[in-house]
Amino acid sequence: MAAQDIYDPAYVRDVFDRCSDKYITFSYVCSMGFTERWRKQCVAMLDLPDGPLSGYDLMAGTGEVWPHLLERFPNIDDIRAVDISSGMHKRALERLHAMRAHRISFIEDDVLASDLLPQSADFVISTFGLKTFNRTQHKKLAALAARVLKPGGSFAFIEASDPIGWFLRPLYLFHLKFVLPVVERILLRGAQDFSMIGAYSTNFGNAQGFAQDLAANGLQVEYRKFFFGCATGVCGRKPD
Ligand SMILES: C[S@@+](CC[C@H](N)C(=O)[O-])C[C@H]1O[C@@H](n2cnc3c(N)ncnc32)[C@H](O)[C@@H]1O
Repeated sequence: MAAQDIYDPAYVRDVFDRCSDKYITFSYVCSMGFTERWRKQCVAMLDLPDGPLSGYDLMAGTGEVWPHLLERFPNIDDIRAVDISSGMHKRALERLHAMRAHRISFIEDDVLASDLLPQSADFVISTFGLKTFNRTQHKKLAALAARVLKPGGSFAFIEASDPIGWFLRPLYLFHLKFVLPVVERILLRGAQDFSMIGAYSTNFGNAQGFAQDLAANGLQVEYRKFFFGCATGVCGRKPD
């Protein structure tokens, strides 16, 4: 039997459909609150002007970044959330507060096959959406970000990463590869979907390659590390 391609969008969609119910709690507890902090830091990397703004939250999942985005930039009037998983999408809808709903629209799609319009966004943001792509897919994603941004538009991506060189790296990898799967087996009755997220994270490495992909598409790019490299990010803008 052929080995399963863990980067096949249909496979990734099924993983997240199965995880969607528990994703928010699992992500918060197992990262000991770091994911929330990193989402805020990702929003802080955006540099946006005054006036009404719209843009994309790519691989939006359950919309965890929206509260931070709208708090920091109250002038955003349309976040277009793109996600392939209807389960995550449904959970996102359930979580929407009535007062926020009119500022969010959804596109349920494989972002790599999407036909998002050129120059249709003042910003592009994505939190923890890079790891389920391989290098070829990163290049496509970078081209998409460059295409949809308006001239002068700003972008920010963040992803959990492998903190190479950090003296506590073995402990971190132990947490990802052994603690998370055990917690999952106990809490989620033998499921192995979140363990997959651990595998994606360690395969990913860091956002340096993706930063180069964005630069190759003509974007001005800055690479950043967070908490000893346990997360890495890339931000910048499309030249005017
Ligand atoms: C780890 S979650 C991140 C969710 C959220 N942004 C957060 O901050 O927690 C990754 C999300 O990427 C979505 N995803 C993966 N591959 C995708 C693709 N090809 N197109 C669109 N969404 C995709 C998954 O469905 C999942 O909701």
